[in-house]
Amino acid sequence: MKSLVRPARVTLLVAVTLSFGALVVQAVPPKTESRVCFAAVANYSQNTAIGLCSHAVLQTLRVGPSGTVGYVTTATTPQATVLSLLPTYCNRRLAYPYLQPYLAVVGAGTDATVAAMLSSATNRTNFVKALVSFVRSYPNCVGILIDFSGLNASQT
Ligand SMILES: *[C@@H]1O[C@H](CO)[C@@H](O)[C@H](O)[C@H]1NC(C)=O
Ligand SMILES: *[C@@H]1O[C@H](CO)[C@@H](O)[C@H](O)[C@H]1NC(C)=O
Ligand SMILES: *[C@@H]1O[C@H](CO)[C@@H](O)[C@H](O)[C@H]1NC(C)=O
Repeated sequence: MKSLVRPARVTLLVAVTLSFGALVVQAVPPKTESRVCFAAVANYSQNTAIGLCSHAVLQTLRVGPSGTVGYVTTATTPQATVLSLLPTYCNRRLAYPYLQPYLAVVGAGTDATVAAMLSSATNRTNFVKALVSFVRSYPNCVGILIDFSGLNASQT
């Protein structure tokens, strides 16, 4: 009889393990899903919605004059405000360690600054160097996304 009881116990254990496994699997998808969020400059210091994203892209940088790093500004958010708010975005990775915050460079091939930067290898290299040095000052952001529209054949 003992030999019959033991297999039953093993089966029960396996069944319990499987149902526990199923519960774990159900709980996992929200964290493993890739959810890319596009964000605009704001004060993110108390933002919890960003915790629902796996990756976030802040559309905040431009090509400035002479291949410098420029900023997306508005009348109410001048450059100084943008610079003071950037850390509040990158630093959300401290609250949500799985979050990959990126800074995006936006622009179009017809923008004079973008066209000048793309027009020679030296100018492209200078801009990339400026960008790398800039992003190093935001260690909680993980990278740069380049988002240029309307590039013509000689610019790609
Ligand atoms: C490279 O950039 C400089 C500064 O913006 C600009 O004066 C120059 O015309 C650019 N080079 C080319 C080949 O357009
Ligand atoms: C962002 O908001 C927090 C409080 O919500 C405030 O303490 C902080 O000064 C703000 N930062 C900036 C740069 O406005
Ligand atoms: C591509 O666009 C740039 C900037 O608008 C312009 O200077 C250049 O002549 C264009 N090249 C071609 C092949 O259309």
